[in-house]
Amino acid sequence: MSASLRALGPRGSDRWWSLASPGYDYTVGLVGWHRWQDALVSDVASGIVLDVGCGPAHLAQGLLRRGIDYVGVDRSHTMLAHAAHAVRGCGPGRAHLLRADLTALPFTDACFDLVVSTGVLGLLDRRARNTALTEIARVTKGEVRLLEPIVRGDQNVDRWRWRLLAFVSDQPLELTELQDVGLAPRVVGDSRFAGTYSFVLATKK
Ligand SMILES: C[S@@+](CC[C@H](N)C(=O)[O-])C[C@H]1O[C@@H](n2cnc3c(N)ncnc32)[C@H](O)[C@@H]1O
Repeated sequence: MSASLRALGPRGSDRWWSLASPGYDYTVGLVGWHRWQDALVSDVASGIVLDVGCGPAHLAQGLLRRGIDYVGVDRSHTMLAHAAHAVRGCGPGRAHLLRADLTALPFTDACFDLVVSTGVLGLLDRRARNTALTEIARVTKGEVRLLEPIVRGDQNVDRWRWRLLAFVSDQPLELTELQDVGLAPRVVGDSRFAGTYSFVLATKK
């Protein structure tokens, strides 16, 4: 898709995610996505975490159980309904879910200890992504973590894999996009999901 998903525009894209939401969490769980999401935040021990494009908020559950406060933002009502179901009864951390666009985050500067994005930024075109990254850099106190399609130096990915990935994203991120908004990123570990997605840890410069 994503050439096609992006071509749908914000409304069409929201409709797509609403339609996809009932089976989304189950399907991505089958390919190991939840394990990678959990690994991304497994060492987080305190603070408030913002999850942009949170979808069904799988990432929230472990954090909340460890007493970490979680804020999830998504533009899709239906994804947020699934997220509300997922966080119900999880604690002692507090969960707050709200509908917002990640290119205009309704938060003051530097109010989150950590901002995470998993499977979202690759959906945006370069311009929207620059705005989203600027917003992410603005609202974090210092730390950002991504699980996104990344162009990496050591990559040796077959074309067919990128075509597979093209269903969700044909716009892998360049690390320079993070540097451009004042973040210092580094790719961590091996790539995931047929060699297409990577973990990126970034700090504010
Ligand atoms: C592939 S899902 C990823 C969900 C979750 N982060 C995960 O890893 O399972 C993409 C999510 O991003 C949301 N999204 C896409 N564009 C957005 C935007 N501009 N603002 C807020 N949410 C957006 C969609 O509604 C959808 O829930």
